[in-house]
Amino acid sequence: MHAVNDDLKSLPKPALYDELETQLRSLLAGEPDPIACAANMSSLLYWNLPDLNWVGFYLVEQKSGDLLVGPFQGKPACVRIPLTKGVCGAAATARETLVVADVHAFPGHIACDSASNSEVVVPIVLNDGRLLGVLDLDSPRPGRFDDEDARGLERLVAVFVAAIQ
Ligand code: SME
Repeated sequence: MHAVNDDLKSLPKPALYDELETQLRSLLAGEPDPIACAANMSSLLYWNLPDLNWVGFYLVEQKSGDLLVGPFQGKPACVRIPLTKGVCGAAATARETLVVADVHAFPGHIACDSASNSEVVVPIVLNDGRLLGVLDLDSPRPGRFDDEDARGLERLVAVFVAAIQ
C-alpha cells in the first residue's frame, strides 16, 4: 500500500489528481466491498487535498430512496438527506457534478458543519445505470473548488466505481 505523502497538497491540481488516481487504484485494488473502498477513499482525499473540512459519501437507501451518510472524514454530519434537498440531493437527482462557490447562496443548502463555505458533489452511477450515491467535499474557503477539481474528482469516482463492480 502507498504511504500517505504529506507533500501532495502543494502539487498543482493536474499533478495532484494524477497522483491521487494512482494512489486510489493501489488502495482499492482487489477489494470490491463498497463500504471498505469508500472509507479508504474518504481518508485519502481528506488527508491529501488542501483546505477541506469534510469529505464523504452519501449512499442511496433502497427502501426510502434517501441519501444516507456513509464513510466520511470530518465532523459528524447530517444522517439522512432526501433527494429533493441540499446540494447532495440536487447533484444526485441531476446526476451531474455540482460545484458551489458559496454554499450560503445555494437555495436549500444543508449546513452540517458551520465551517463549510464551498462544496462540490459528484454523483456515483454504477455501470448498470443505478445511482449508488454521491461523493461530497466541503471547504471553509469560499470558491475552493473549480472545474479542474470537478473533472479530477469524477476521474477518482470512476476508479471507485470500477473497483466495486
Ligand atoms: N451540505 C450538504 C449536506 C452534507 S454536508 O455538507 C456533509 C448539502 O447541502 O447537501
